[in-house]
Amino acid sequence: MTQHSQRPTDTHACQDRPSATWVFGYGSLIYKVDFPFLRREVASIEGWQRRFWQGSHDHRGTPEQPGRVVTLIPAPGNICRGVAYLVEHDVFEHLDHREKNGYQRIATAISLGESAEIVDGVFYIAVPDNPAFLGDAPIEEIAAHIADSHGPSGSNRDYLLQLAVALRELGDDDEHVAELERLLSQRHTPDS
Ligand code: BEZ
Repeated sequence: MTQHSQRPTDTHACQDRPSATWVFGYGSLIYKVDFPFLRREVASIEGWQRRFWQGSHDHRGTPEQPGRVVTLIPAPGNICRGVAYLVEHDVFEHLDHREKNGYQRIATAISLGESAEIVDGVFYIAVPDNPAFLGDAPIEEIAAHIADSHGPSGSNRDYLLQLAVALRELGDDDEHVAELERLLSQRHTPDS
């Protein structure tokens, strides 16, 4: 992982708790919480939207047959909903390793929950010049790619379906994710 911004310890520390930083999750961080946290809040950031445009060599695919996972792309005015966690800085060792396949941390303002309190934090993004970036494709091709991909963390299909469920639980309406879920549900699977 490369870092686009300064370390959270330098500039993005929580005001009330300098040893901790808010991290915004919009993908698997919403539902796969394998790290300790001090607080968890439904949250949003402005100006970004989810896209299954990043290749996954290490979780939902392999180097030979990468899967497709989410990143965020700029979308002025769009509200991207997810979950924010307040974590101690040593947790980034784990998160940076988990998200090492092309992601970098960047700073963001995060709006927390009902209160809409704004805090400084970070999120992970896979920018277009990273070697694993796949970019856009017709939505049917993206769905087929997801249906056919598997990696050490499980099937790419499960990644998509878990994300779709988690977003619904947050009350989020993400058209890109919903369309992929619909297309996948129409495909034959070995156990259906
Ligand atoms: C997330 O869930 O926020 C996330 C997505 C991709 C890579 C790292 C984190």
